[in-house]
Amino acid sequence: MKNSAMIAGGLMAAPLISGANYFSGAEEVIKVAVIGCGGRGRGAVIQALLAKKNVKLVAMADAFKDNVEKCYQIITDDDVADGVVIKDRIDVPEERRFYGFDAYKKAIPLADVVILTTPPGFRPIHFEEAVKQGKHVFMEKPVATDPAGIKKVLDAAAIARQKKLNVVVGLQRRYQNSYRELFNRKDLIGDITSAQAWWNSDGVWVRPRTDGMTEMEYQMRNWYYFVWLCGDHISEQHIHNIDVVNWFKNDYPVKAQGMGGREVRNGKDHGEIFDHHFVEFTYADGSVLNSQCRHIPGTMSKVDELIIGTKGKIYCGAGRITDHKGNALFQFDRKNENNPYQQEHDELFDAILKGEYKFDDTEVGAKSTMTSILGRMATYSGQAISFDDALNSGIDLMPKEFSFNANPPVMPDENGNYPVAIPGKTKYSF
Ligand SMILES: NC(=O)c1ccc[n+]([C@@H]2O[C@H](COP(=O)([O-])OP(=O)(O)OC[C@H]3O[C@@H](n4cnc5c(N)ncnc54)[C@H](O)[C@@H]3O)[C@@H](O)[C@H]2O)c1
Repeated sequence: MKNSAMIAGGLMAAPLISGANYFSGAEEVIKVAVIGCGGRGRGAVIQALLAKKNVKLVAMADAFKDNVEKCYQIITDDDVADGVVIKDRIDVPEERRFYGFDAYKKAIPLADVVILTTPPGFRPIHFEEAVKQGKHVFMEKPVATDPAGIKKVLDAAAIARQKKLNVVVGLQRRYQNSYRELFNRKDLIGDITSAQAWWNSDGVWVRPRTDGMTEMEYQMRNWYYFVWLCGDHISEQHIHNIDVVNWFKNDYPVKAQGMGGREVRNGKDHGEIFDHHFVEFTYADGSVLNSQCRHIPGTMSKVDELIIGTKGKIYCGAGRITDHKGNALFQFDRKNENNPYQQEHDELFDAILKGEYKFDDTEVGAKSTMTSILGRMATYSGQAISFDDALNSGIDLMPKEFSFNANPPVMPDENGNYPVAIPGKTKYSF
């Protein structure tokens, strides 16, 4: 009961012209493969398996064998999914647990739906392959770490559209009830004139170097601290807040300028990324997004967005809309909040099961990722940069050779330190 039968039955929301697998909604198994078996990969697999009873995990791929095995152990535990036993929905014998740089090529053909949850540097390559093979996709944000990767994702998005492949990107605020309710009422604040966005926190893990690791293995394991893999935290985390403002503006900034640096993130295990960025993004209509993100322990924590219009303000975290005098125009009722991570999968698998082509998140995912990359280019260089110049810069940070014995694109000096951007000196090249 795949494509042809669905079309013949007139059940499609849009006619299918591709080899993508759609389903009858009955007992047929929807096969899933996960590429990137770390924290988010595990979470996304569980959410996919909870979305529908007939979703089955059939293949797993990771750069590292130990990570595949650890993930397999965790997800086959009886207690992993809030009381629902999902073990019987996992059919991944050893021969379908792949590892190495090419593991994705072995796992993707075995599935109908592919979950892409590696560090974001690899997303363009993996997404391109999934689309080439006609798979529906759930992929995490960010969707790239450099402009060349964004172009690759946008090109693949055009093909995904032609093939009518559902693609959900893990910008989960777009699947969260409170944000959706605020978005539906955004006209209450009139025209948006400015916005503020924050991801200020203590920071994230460090995975130390151990004996015998090649430089490539070290960077792949401690990926957060390398721009080619992570994109810096302005991209890796703060993209969520930047994306909310782009979504509500229904637009992307035309230029950015900003400042940033590293105050406390200066150990050898801290690679090359900054620990704070402040960026002024300007949209075509002159409105401005002031964005700040910080990873410094002991400082004020705040992850939120504030959107200001001609008639009022939207306080996203509080779920509130007020006029300029502070009178409430809307208050979201927390009782109605959902788990947006689960919602992403519920909606994706529902569409696939019903034979609907409903999700095309790639372009917004790519352009919000590009916005965050633009912010990084502005803080690293200290220059004002336009979105189009950045996107068309051709900057490509990925290695030319994928092997654990190859040198990654950035190498430490003789003391084990990595080159760090210096505003005013660093060119456009990040
Ligand atoms: N939407 C959200 O709120 C949210 C939350 C957490 C993570 N994420 C995103 O999920 C992604 C993964 O983050 P994580 O926290 O799971 O990291 P993680 O380090 O826990 O897992 C990443 C896994 O990918 C594997 N990997 C690395 N390169 C690979 C390759 N080339 N092929 C196959 N596997 C490879 C690693 O070995 C590791 O097991 C990131 O893009 C992150 O931004 C999103």
